[in-house]
Amino acid sequence: MLKIDNLNQYYGGSHILRGISFDAPIGKVTTVLGRNGVGKTTLLKTLMGLVPAKNGSIHFGDQDITRAPSYTRVKAGIGYVPQGREIFPRLSVEENLLMGLATRPRGAAIPAKVFEMFPVLRQMLNRRGGDLSGGQQQQLAIGRALAFGPKLLILDEPTEGIQPSIIKDIGAAIRSLAATGEIAILLVEQYYDFARDLSDYYLVMERGEIIMRGEGRDMDKDGAREALAV
Ligand SMILES: Nc1ncnc2c1ncn2[C@@H]1O[C@H](COP(=O)(O)OP(=O)(O)OP(=O)(O)O)[C@@H](O)[C@H]1O
Ligand SMILES: [Mg+2]
Repeated sequence: MLKIDNLNQYYGGSHILRGISFDAPIGKVTTVLGRNGVGKTTLLKTLMGLVPAKNGSIHFGDQDITRAPSYTRVKAGIGYVPQGREIFPRLSVEENLLMGLATRPRGAAIPAKVFEMFPVLRQMLNRRGGDLSGGQQQQLAIGRALAFGPKLLILDEPTEGIQPSIIKDIGAAIRSLAATGEIAILLVEQYYDFARDLSDYYLVMERGEIIMRGEGRDMDKDGAREALAV
């Protein structure tokens, strides 16, 4: 579904992404692990077109989106849950979810499966986003990204600062989405156990490079946890 080839990115003179290549197939969870500051968010922002790719290529399905503006990428079917959630605190839960439909024709409805996945969003439909707990805001951000029916869902550290019960719900949601076989999931994480339990494929990033990769079921055997600790 998503295919990245030899991607490079710079902030000023610093080389942040160094020749990144990988695929994120449909129906699978592909996880990028790496410590603080290795370039995970930069990778996702480059995929979303929020910072321009220096060189290399990004394909989504049969489209080359390397130079496409962000809205074209969203329209093509990429849903993005940014680090820190970035919901609209003064808008209601319903309005936040409707924002996720901005690329769809007027009058498009929030799909029922968003509420099936996160029932709390229905209960809190008229509450302001900023009044939700951190975990509920994360669920809202995921619901917003799913509202338009993406074919690729990108999540940047969805467990960061979230209480364990909601982490479980988010894990179950990711698993059930992948199990439909209709969406590719690209997850960025630092919470090793969460990543191991969900990943079909994993990559470990270190200073802008992928230093280890394999199947999720081999993460322990490959020493991925140790690679993150050094
Ligand atoms: N807008 C920017 N301008 C210049 N340097 C930046 C900018 N954003 C990030 N950086 C630097 O780029 C590097 C990669 O940052 P990035 O946010 O991609 O890391 P990360 O892996 O997502 O980290 P974290 O796990 O803390 O979220 C870091 O050294 C960071 O300081
Ligand atoms: Mg980050």
